[in-house]
Amino acid sequence: MKPLARLPLRRRTLMVGSLSGVAGAAVAQAPSTPAEATADGRVPVSLTVNGQAVALQLQPRESLLDVLRERLDLTGAKKGCDHGQCGACTVHLDGRRVASCLTLAVKTDGRTVTTIEGLAAPDGTLHPMQQAFVDHDALQCGYCTPGQVMAAVACVREGHATSEAQIREYMSGNLCRCGAYAAILRAIREAAPRMSAPQGGRHA
Ligand code: FES
Ligand code: FES
Repeated sequence: MKPLARLPLRRRTLMVGSLSGVAGAAVAQAPSTPAEATADGRVPVSLTVNGQAVALQLQPRESLLDVLRERLDLTGAKKGCDHGQCGACTVHLDGRRVASCLTLAVKTDGRTVTTIEGLAAPDGTLHPMQQAFVDHDALQCGYCTPGQVMAAVACVREGHATSEAQIREYMSGNLCRCGAYAAILRAIREAAPRMSAPQGGRHA
């Protein structure tokens, strides 16, 4: 199958996708002065993850991805490249998608993180995007799927799912080695209107 990004690949597009991990993703910088650092250099960080308050002592260099996976046991976000180039680690930070491998965890102090584990409703009802991925069989090995779903939700929220070309452009930072792009595209097209419908409103 052909990848989502069937649009002509431009150098700029590749550079933006590579640097951001996913289109629109943020790259956090190191804190200039960790004022409250402990003697061994760790920094107290308080954040909300999937609706739960979390307090940690972190080394300034730890990535959000490593903290999620290794300290909080949230292994949905995957470590594909660890360099912002594949999108497998995509999560939401204050509602915006970020490549968590490029996001320093200390920069999430006071902020809100949502991972794939926090996307479904408390009663287990899948988010409309998750359901659409299931309905359209938009995965094969599934390794990229959590990142694809989180990026797809953000793509819709950002208003970048109004056409197939637009979806391809704004999902181009999320790679799928299995080539499930056509089904992913169909899933996003179907989920987009559901996310703004009353029954899907809480997810929008
Ligand atoms: S973009 Fe973060 S693991 Fe590839
Ligand atoms: S489903 Fe296998 S990498 Fe995307």
